[in-house]
Amino acid sequence: MARRTRQNIGLILGLAAGALALFVLLMPGREAWHARGAMNSGHDDIACEHCHLPAPGSLRQQLQANARHLLGLRATAADFGLQQAGSRECLACHDFPQERHPVFRFYEPRFQKARDALHPESCVSCHLEHRGVRVTLDNIDYCRHCHEETKLKNDPLDVSHVSLIEAEQWDSCLGCHDFHGNHLMTVHEQLSEAIPPARILEYFRGGPSPYSADRKFTPRQEPLR
Ligand code: HEC
Ligand code: HEC
Ligand code: HEC
Ligand code: HEC
Ligand code: HEC
Repeated sequence: MARRTRQNIGLILGLAAGALALFVLLMPGREAWHARGAMNSGHDDIACEHCHLPAPGSLRQQLQANARHLLGLRATAADFGLQQAGSRECLACHDFPQERHPVFRFYEPRFQKARDALHPESCVSCHLEHRGVRVTLDNIDYCRHCHEETKLKNDPLDVSHVSLIEAEQWDSCLGCHDFHGNHLMTVHEQLSEAIPPARILEYFRGGPSPYSADRKFTPRQEPLR
């Protein structure tokens, strides 16, 4: 088949698929069809376009780029209609100055191993959307990727941090510390007072906060751009 014909077939197929996708996308009341599942905790009233910005280029350019990609004439697919949502969109509503683990910090070279294992530099590594939950990690021990060297000068704990880390009790950390530092809470000094892992996982799945209902910062309803 001539290259030109292949390009034309690709364009027509691309246009047809695109038109169908657009038709479904634009039908009122059909939002749930193309979203993957229930919105995550607290996001029921967040508009799609706050997280999915329009993709660059005209619709025709996007279709052509994708048709060329399908035919092997272009290395990457193009965003079609909407861009992929990421940390930039989240931070437009969620950034607060006291953040304990700001995502941008983890681009530093010393976090390369943690990046390979966990991708802490991106919100959606731990908070995939459309899953009907709060945190999408299925374990609570990921502190291990960065805190192996943590030592406190005058450790107030009955079982010191050094001992906890030596014994690889990584599932204890979230029992006393929240991750972002946004909850107004007491940090306990007795290991027996740590929140049990099951309650933390329940919170991940959308249950009530085991830390406190009071937060320092409440997310914005409208993005700051
Ligand atoms: C709070 C931010 C947020 C909101 C609001 C949101 N989404 Fe998403 N959406 C995401 C993220 C992040 C992904 C990436 C995939 C994932 O997390 O698994 C995604 C993925 C998708 C996908 C799959 C395609 C892809 O890029 O992977 C579709 C389709 C989608 N969203 C549609 C919608 C629709 C329709 C709405 C409004 C009802 C909506 N989204 C609202 C964040 C959001
Ligand atoms: C348009 C603003 C907006 C955007 C964009 C947005 N959020 Fe939210 N988010 C909110 C609001 C408002 C709440 C509900 C806050 C509450 O319950 O008080 C919320 C709730 C949450 C919660 C649960 C909070 C809790 O205390 O239980 C998480 C986790 C979260 N968002 C993560 C994200 C991530 C990750 C992204 C990007 C993919 C994102 N949000 C994008 C406004 C936003
Ligand atoms: C490495 C994993 C990880 C990353 C990356 C991450 N989070 Fe979280 N997030 C968590 C965990 C674990 C919790 C539950 C503990 C807590 O509440 O601090 C949580 C809780 C939250 C909450 C609810 C509690 C609160 O602070 O109000 C919000 C909102 C939130 N994350 C937003 C975000 C946003 C926005 C980003 C990106 C800028 C992000 N997270 C990146 C793991 C992560
Ligand atoms: C990707 C790396 C990374 C991960 C994963 C990580 N941390 Fe951290 N954490 C840091 C860095 C960097 C600091 C800042 C202090 C420093 O430079 O050592 C910090 C600081 C802290 C602090 C002290 C904050 C303050 O205000 O002084 C606490 C508490 C903490 N982390 C708890 C945790 C817990 C609990 C987990 C697991 C749920 C975790 N961290 C996961 C990198 C990480
Ligand atoms: C029984 C509760 C408890 C457990 C379990 C616990 N911590 Fe702590 N942690 C504390 C207290 C109390 C402090 C000191 C007061 C503060 O910084 O809030 C502290 C302080 C820290 C600090 C700040 C150090 C500094 O120099 O300021 C980091 C980082 C930290 N913990 C990480 C961890 C990690 C990682 C784990 C899991 C191995 C863990 N903690 C388990 C209670 C706990």
